Amino acid sequence: MAIRKIVKKGDEILEKKSRMVEVINDKIIELLDDMVETLYENNGAGLAAPQVGILKRIIVVDVGEGLIELINPEIIETRGEITDDEGCLSIPGMVGTVTRPEYVKIRGLNRQGEMTTYEGTEMLARAFCHEVDHLNGTLYTDKADNIRRCE
Ligand code: CO
Repeated sequence: MAIRKIVKKGDEILEKKSRMVEVINDKIIELLDDMVETLYENNGAGLAAPQVGILKRIIVVDVGEGLIELINPEIIETRGEITDDEGCLSIPGMVGTVTRPEYVKIRGLNRQGEMTTYEGTEMLARAFCHEVDHLNGTLYTDKADNIRRCE
């Protein structure tokens, strides 16, 4: 396992669309392990593969309710709306206010290649949406109001 360098806003890789993972091989498992280590090292709530420079559809999320790893994630249901602040490890020291669904159902493959479904509300729903946005080249600053320093 290794901590990877986080790509910062301004790097065009963060604006690109990530590709589906076709085969979960040793390289993908190593990437997942490194993403998890990098997430915790930086006290993040979520991390998407393009944030470590890899344009593959992989996210890891932990908002304090346990680690979730998803390969080729798809949001399949949303309900409600909540407006709240969020930040991003690629945009350090900043927060912005974004309206997101209050409830999100997401599915994707786990590291064993099994289709898994998760439901999240509030922070977890927000993290799912934020990380899937990364896979489509979207940053929260594309949708946020009141972007400001948080330190
Ligand atoms: Co982010």
